[in-house]
Amino acid sequence: MENQSRGQWGSTFGFLMAAVGSAVGLGNIWGFPYKMGSNGGFAFLLVYIIMVIFVGIIVMLGELALGRKTGRGAVGAYVALSKKYKWVGMMGVASGFLILSFYSVLGGMVLRYAVGYLVSMFGADGFAGAGTGFFGFLLYDYKGMLLCYVIFMLINIVIVMGGIKGGIEKFSSIAMPALFFMLLAVIIYVACQPGAGEGYAFMFKPDFTALKEDFLGVVRTAAGQMFFSLSLGMGCMITYGSYLAKNENLQRNAVIIPVADSIIAILAGCAVMPACAAFGVDFGAGPGLLFASMQTVFSNMGGFAGNLMGFLFYFLVLLAAITSSISLLEVCTTYAIDKRIDAGKDPARKKITVIYAAIIFVVGLPVALDALGSGGAAIPAPYELLGLSGDAIKGWNDCWLDVYDLISEGILMPLGALVMSLIIGWKLSPTRKHRDRENLIVLECQEGGHTFKAYKFFDICFKYIVPFGMLIVLYGQIVSFFG
Ligand code: TRP
Repeated sequence: MENQSRGQWGSTFGFLMAAVGSAVGLGNIWGFPYKMGSNGGFAFLLVYIIMVIFVGIIVMLGELALGRKTGRGAVGAYVALSKKYKWVGMMGVASGFLILSFYSVLGGMVLRYAVGYLVSMFGADGFAGAGTGFFGFLLYDYKGMLLCYVIFMLINIVIVMGGIKGGIEKFSSIAMPALFFMLLAVIIYVACQPGAGEGYAFMFKPDFTALKEDFLGVVRTAAGQMFFSLSLGMGCMITYGSYLAKNENLQRNAVIIPVADSIIAILAGCAVMPACAAFGVDFGAGPGLLFASMQTVFSNMGGFAGNLMGFLFYFLVLLAAITSSISLLEVCTTYAIDKRIDAGKDPARKKITVIYAAIIFVVGLPVALDALGSGGAAIPAPYELLGLSGDAIKGWNDCWLDVYDLISEGILMPLGALVMSLIIGWKLSPTRKHRDRENLIVLECQEGGHTFKAYKFFDICFKYIVPFGMLIVLYGQIVSFFG
């Protein structure tokens, strides 16, 4: 009865599309290529894959198992283990609020570019006469920014109101395959452009100079990227796991999701890098890559083909962003729903979704209105408020997005995953006193008669490797914000 009111995934495929959809997002299509671009290409890729195997898959399994075992979202799951862990779940919900607010502003901007190319395909000027300078224009076009932000948020509300099976699963099952085929189309088109080859060489030709020059820099960037890209550390996968049926094979799903996410990230690299190479845009362009650089690429392609490719590209990024943002909203929604169910009330999903999205919208307003820290905008950037200039402007205070990012991705999430792996590795494991007891997570993985052969590997990772990896992420994030 209780599960009935909470909801459940309709099929394994649907769950996988939703979970891979959560993982595949701006992190893959924007973050991965640009971080790879500025961190030595192949060397970065290699470290990234090692991180996925030893940390990503492990934390993924831990979160899915914790969610399904307790049948509760981020906060409820920790409370079910012990009241004293509640704060770990609360950190996750707080991260959800912050990430979703800036993620939706970016999502709105992607939407604006997609519409711009769609309009341009029919001969009109979709970029308000600003051409490739549109990025700078949009930042100060507050009405445009707010409108796109509102529309993006409304799309999220409509989907999450539809529930697990009827909303999130349904949307993801269509959006993810569509995204995949559009990405293939863009990759093939780009591959046919003269000069694209240099992009592949950059990605796949073994070259370890970056590792020799700044080993720790590459490792911490790859670790942070892996973490965000897999939607880990804030209870997102706990939440999605809590809607899983007991006969699902957790260990298999915990491998499929990271593998699919990494494949899409590499494919996105195969679209972006060669496109930059062919159209003379710098690989290491940094965060502007998704907007300014890619727009330059599509303008240089020119004509109808350029507009069509531009539309396909931004539309697929939009789909990727939506399947991720709904997972963030679901973390917050599930938290409130669980509380209501535990109090014996009806879940009231629709009402809760609207209330939470509205609060998140307000939280995100400074991000939408500070022109990403370009200065002199409607809402002053943190460094302007603090009266800082020159060297005092750092990664954490240069715009509101980075403040939110520092708190969530920089501190709360790595800390959450660190504590989670310590709990699973040490607290839920056999102790000296109870040698015959089994790890609760392992027992959960064996539900439905599935064997768990890699148990020893997981155990060592939970106890030692993941905590160590999380400390590196935590350290690295703090260095990158304050250094
Ligand atoms: N993984 C998504 C991306 O790559 C973003 C995302 C969705 C996320 N849910 C999350 C990140 C939860 C951290 C935690 O863009």
